[in-house]
Amino acid sequence: MKVAIIILAAGNGLRMQSDTPKVLQPIAGKPILMHVMDTVNELLSSKSAYDFSKICIVVNKQYDLMRQHVSNKAIQWVVQLEQKGTGDAVKQALPFCSDCDVMLVIYGDMPFIRSETLLKLLDHSKGQQLTILTSQLANPTGYGRIIRNQQHKLIDIVEETDATKEQKKNIEINTGMMVIPISKLKDWLPQMKPNNQQKEYYLTDLVHIASSQNACVQSHTTYHILEITGVNTRQQQIELERAYQRWQSDNLIQKGVYIIDPNRLDIRGSLSAGHDVTIDINCIFEGTVSLGNHVSIGAGCIIRNSHLADYTTVNPYSIIDQSNIASHCNIGPWARLRPHTKLAESVCIGNFVEIKDANISKNTKIKHLSYIGNADIGEQVNIGAGTITCNYDGINKYHTQIKNEVFIGANTALIAPLIIEEHATIGAGSTITQTAEAGYLTLSRVKQRVIKQWKRPR
Ligand code: UD1
Ligand code: CA
Repeated sequence: MKVAIIILAAGNGLRMQSDTPKVLQPIAGKPILMHVMDTVNELLSSKSAYDFSKICIVVNKQYDLMRQHVSNKAIQWVVQLEQKGTGDAVKQALPFCSDCDVMLVIYGDMPFIRSETLLKLLDHSKGQQLTILTSQLANPTGYGRIIRNQQHKLIDIVEETDATKEQKKNIEINTGMMVIPISKLKDWLPQMKPNNQQKEYYLTDLVHIASSQNACVQSHTTYHILEITGVNTRQQQIELERAYQRWQSDNLIQKGVYIIDPNRLDIRGSLSAGHDVTIDINCIFEGTVSLGNHVSIGAGCIIRNSHLADYTTVNPYSIIDQSNIASHCNIGPWARLRPHTKLAESVCIGNFVEIKDANISKNTKIKHLSYIGNADIGEQVNIGAGTITCNYDGINKYHTQIKNEVFIGANTALIAPLIIEEHATIGAGSTITQTAEAGYLTLSRVKQRVIKQWKRPR
């Protein structure tokens, strides 16, 4: 069966009161539309009997921004010049899908719709029947209400603005997702009239048009509220963000992760964790992050696209970006590991230390106030407080190599390119410009003077 997926995203989103199109507003760090596209991609790669041969996104005139976000070249962009309602949006898409059997309509403002639910909806339609995805909400305000006859047959959907007091009490709602047989749609569309409060062509009118012709209308109900929650206002965006974050936290908690307060954790991407992992409050995980067993993350940490191996501890307010951390490391508080930092086993990085593009070998300690960039640091090295690799001349970056068992005294400037040979010691306060020989003490220090006749200005 050939299925056309239609994503409705042309609405003006006026209720958001924002210059950014509603479907590009973020949830969990990603535009709402991109979450929908994740589901579409799941459908495309699912092993189902359906041939998803067309994907249309219905957009308004200002869709350039959206095009930048959605890179899939197979997408058919359908421009709806005037926002005359969801029914009109589908009408605009129809000419692009006339060779398909059914249309699967999904909304661009519902980020967490699941592919498994959409596949069930398609199964219910058997490729021939108008099929509506419904749900039941304790508070159905704002949604179209499902109207059934005494035989429990679905005969109509009424929008909140058009509903009677009695109809508004109904908790069964239209989620908006539906499957429409294309041959019938061609017949039904001209019967749609904008006779309602909003003077729009409602897609939901298909239900009473179909049932008045005695065509069978099917429904499938989902009780997974998160997947059918749409975003129309800032308030809803914020509430859905929290609900989604809570859902992600709960999934991790079920796998044994100790999240100290699941209401104060944000995952903007994917986080995987082994056993006996503890995450303190107010942490943000971005991109793809994996934590080994017995990892502990202190309060207020931000970790992005990184892997942290077993028994590593990150102390509060540290930032780790595109880094690879081996086991038994101790990081922070207030450490900043920038892209391409690699820490071997049992490395210790203390407060106000910044590291970038550097390999730090096992058992090395950089405990206070240092900048290490473009460097390879050996095993069992001790880097004193205030050590700086001077790696940049304003144009080029240069490399520093510090070999095993070196000791760098505090407040040392290492002018790259530079090599410090094994077991060398650098005296505190030095500016080192040339290779420091293995095993010796190297220092550059201005001789201390005493000026006895000097007087403090008064
Ligand atoms: C719609 C449904 C309602 C359902 C609710 C679920 C209709 C008439 N109503 O109401 O029954 O309970 O969704 O969330 O369908 N859009 C266009 N072009 C337009 C208008 C809208 O592409 O001319 C797109 C929007 O970008 C959005 C989607 O269609 O992604 C839904 O539109 P919206 O205005 O949010 O409909 P609701 O009032 O939420
Ligand atoms: Ca909506």
